[in-house]
Amino acid sequence: MLLYSFPFWLIAPRGIYAACGIDRRHVVRSFNPHRNASSETTPLQVGNGNFAFGVDVTGLQTFSPFATMSTWGWHNFSLPTTSGQTSVDDFSGLDWWTHGRLVNYNQPNPAESDISNWLIQNPQRVNLATIGFSFAEDDVTEEKLEDKSQTLDLWTGQISSAFAYNGTPVEVETWADSSSDTIGIAIESELLSGGSLGVFFDFPLPTRNKFDAPFVGVFNATDQHITSLQAGENSATIRHDIDATSYHVTVSWEPSAKISGPLDGKHRYILKSSQGVNKIKLSVAFSPAPNTDAPPFAGIAAASTAWWESFWRSGAFIDLTGAKSPNAIELQRRTILSQYLTAVNSASSYPPQESGLVNNGWYGKFHLEMILWHLLHFARWNHFPLLRRSVPTMYSKYLDSSVDRANLQGYDGARWGKMTDPTGRSAPGEINSLLIWQQPHPLYFAEIEYRSFPSEATLKSWDDILTATADFMASYAFYNQSTGFYDLGPPMYPASENTNPNATINPAFELAYWRFGLDVAIKWKERQNTSVPEKWIEVRDNLAPLPIAEDAFAVYEGIPNMWENTTVQDHPAMSAVFGLLPPPSSGPPLNMTIVKNTADKIRDLWDLEDCWGWDFPMLAMNSLRLGDVDQAVTYLLHPLFEFDDAGYPVGGSRVPTPYFPGSSSFLLAMAMMAGGWDGEPGPHFPESWNVQVEGFVPGL
Ligand SMILES: *[C@@H]1O[C@H](CO)[C@@H](O)[C@H](O)[C@H]1NC(C)=O
Ligand SMILES: *[C@@H]1O[C@H](CO)[C@@H](O)[C@H](O)[C@H]1NC(C)=O
Ligand SMILES: *[C@@H]1O[C@H](CO)[C@@H](O)[C@H](O)[C@H]1NC(C)=O
Ligand SMILES: *[C@@H]1O[C@H](CO)[C@@H](O)[C@H](O)[C@H]1NC(C)=O
Ligand SMILES: *[C@@H]1O[C@H](CO)[C@@H](O)[C@H](O)[C@H]1NC(C)=O
Ligand SMILES: *[C@@H]1O[C@H](CO)[C@@H](O)[C@H](O)[C@H]1NC(C)=O
Ligand SMILES: *[C@@H]1O[C@H](CO)[C@@H](O)[C@H](O)[C@H]1NC(C)=O
Ligand SMILES: *[C@@H]1O[C@H](CO)[C@@H](O)[C@H](O)[C@H]1NC(C)=O
Repeated sequence: MLLYSFPFWLIAPRGIYAACGIDRRHVVRSFNPHRNASSETTPLQVGNGNFAFGVDVTGLQTFSPFATMSTWGWHNFSLPTTSGQTSVDDFSGLDWWTHGRLVNYNQPNPAESDISNWLIQNPQRVNLATIGFSFAEDDVTEEKLEDKSQTLDLWTGQISSAFAYNGTPVEVETWADSSSDTIGIAIESELLSGGSLGVFFDFPLPTRNKFDAPFVGVFNATDQHITSLQAGENSATIRHDIDATSYHVTVSWEPSAKISGPLDGKHRYILKSSQGVNKIKLSVAFSPAPNTDAPPFAGIAAASTAWWESFWRSGAFIDLTGAKSPNAIELQRRTILSQYLTAVNSASSYPPQESGLVNNGWYGKFHLEMILWHLLHFARWNHFPLLRRSVPTMYSKYLDSSVDRANLQGYDGARWGKMTDPTGRSAPGEINSLLIWQQPHPLYFAEIEYRSFPSEATLKSWDDILTATADFMASYAFYNQSTGFYDLGPPMYPASENTNPNATINPAFELAYWRFGLDVAIKWKERQNTSVPEKWIEVRDNLAPLPIAEDAFAVYEGIPNMWENTTVQDHPAMSAVFGLLPPPSSGPPLNMTIVKNTADKIRDLWDLEDCWGWDFPMLAMNSLRLGDVDQAVTYLLHPLFEFDDAGYPVGGSRVPTPYFPGSSSFLLAMAMMAGGWDGEPGPHFPESWNVQVEGFVPGL
């Protein structure tokens, strides 16, 4: 492994960090990804949570146009021109019977399919640009390059790439600024001065593809968008207009170079250094506004080095490198790489999409039911500043529209949306409109934050959000006169998304989560010495009991053929009743025989081929709380739960790679192993492993 090969180290004096027992730098760098060819599915990335640049083996996007993506770059195609469907207000959704009344759901209406589809497909996240090496010859391919070698230094955020072309070496450094949408590139090669190597900038058009992977956008629809160049002595700005979306790419260079283009009908611009210059440094800034004041190359490298060092030095840490077991080393590898990748792709001012800033899934939108998996680990790993980039601000931004959503359906409080873009609009969909497990999430986030920051400021920052959340939850639960219980659904989809929504009532996980959420909401009011709405208590104390089939939790009450092979598919969310949630603090205690039976039956019967990334950590957490550490490790290293050479979570049969809920839920499970939970501080690793952990926030 290539470890110590970079010119840009700022080596901190060790004495400053004497408090650290673990040699974090050594552990982190032991897992630096190294490549000598591009991957077909994943880039190596530099980035900062809100912006990322994915590169192939050349250190740029030369042969594989991996994406340059942000949290602000979005595009709408033009609205349909079909009569009566030319405005978003022409969408009316569908009415479904809900406990004896018609309720409007945000679902595609076959009579308005054009506007329904438009609302699903728009906006899409934009791949801002492709930047690569331009060779004097046309037919250069990756195979024609020699001595390819590339390393991502996780400790500084630098990618170093080297290759040779026709025997002449090229060396490249790639960096991203820690606080702006800017990349820094340094290139050294004799090929530069002779004019046989330059750097191109190209601009794709977004597509209407639900999944745009591994690459985002198309380069051959050049007449449907516009670019223009304004070049100066040491910098140039390229403006890109795609319908109403426009943004600017400001390129600054030193020493001297010249940019020209566009090339014959394309959106391709080429930067070439001046005669005699064989070393060039670029700063490339992306912004919706013109005239970005971008940091120079040296500033970007310094900021990245400082940010990553402070990231790795702060928060929690696990050192499994003292264990002999290859399983321990693989868990360590996944841990380090997942930490890097979630900081690059998920620590955003909006929740991340499931493919982060690597490529587009679901048009680049994010799912509000997934954000607990995406973000909760930042709290457990004591990286609250990264969590706070989006939470609770995102909930505050979407509060009004979520109150409107609940209101339209005749409920109190705020009904949080599902597949969302930055404006907070939820895309139409049958499942989208009928899932409910995103509703209690704010209560979980708030509670975990309060335990670390038990202050009035914390109480205040969440209070409006929690009040509206609990009001909806209490008002959504339906009082069933014949049983005397409050029911959830129908119609609804449970987390497993594969049941008949009109028959789905009282799903196990959602019921347990409703109780947990209302318990937190009630405690929150008590902490503030304000009165607790009676409805919250009334609903909590009369929730329907958790459904049971064959002495184990069922997906929902009365589900046919529960433990037969046709049913045991998709997310085994019943394992989250005890895996994700603490034992209930109100109502009857969990029947531990049932909890144990549920874990056993899932282990023996569930169709894990049909599972998604986060199911494995969820099952591992359930095993941990049940005291079965070995089973937890088995789930975390399950052959169907894969991470590639650079740590990207493999999508599998159902979604493209990467599927980041796999990474973040993995880190959550590792936090549970290392940091434990209330009453069981841990760590909880196999006995023979020699493990050092520090800095974890215990779980609920
Ligand atoms: C390239 O990398 C692969 C995987 O790391 C390794 O097996 C192979 O030996 C490397 N090839 C060269 C020429 O370094
Ligand atoms: C896309 O259109 C919607 C609906 O008009 C609007 O709310 C949103 O701001 C637009 N987004 C972009 C990026 O143009
Ligand atoms: C559920 O019921 C509604 C009527 O309230 C009906 O329109 C819809 O097709 C049903 N859905 C399914 C999946 O059966
Ligand atoms: C662009 O290329 C794709 C696939 O290579 C092709 O399907 C599509 O028709 C092309 N579009 C245009 C406008 O040429
Ligand atoms: C009341 O609960 C029973 C048992 O779960 C169920 O069969 C029935 O449909 C519910 N009644 C209403 C009105 O939802
Ligand atoms: C609530 O009341 C308790 C006991 O009187 C007091 O200690 C606490 O500071 C009060 N909390 C708030 C937020 O007012
Ligand atoms: C727990 O569930 C088991 C299996 O269904 C049952 O035999 C036992 O009575 C239950 N315990 C309690 C306290 O309800
Ligand atoms: C379920 O098991 C039965 C009996 O073993 C088998 O005939 C059937 O094909 C299985 N179905 C599925 C979906 O695997």
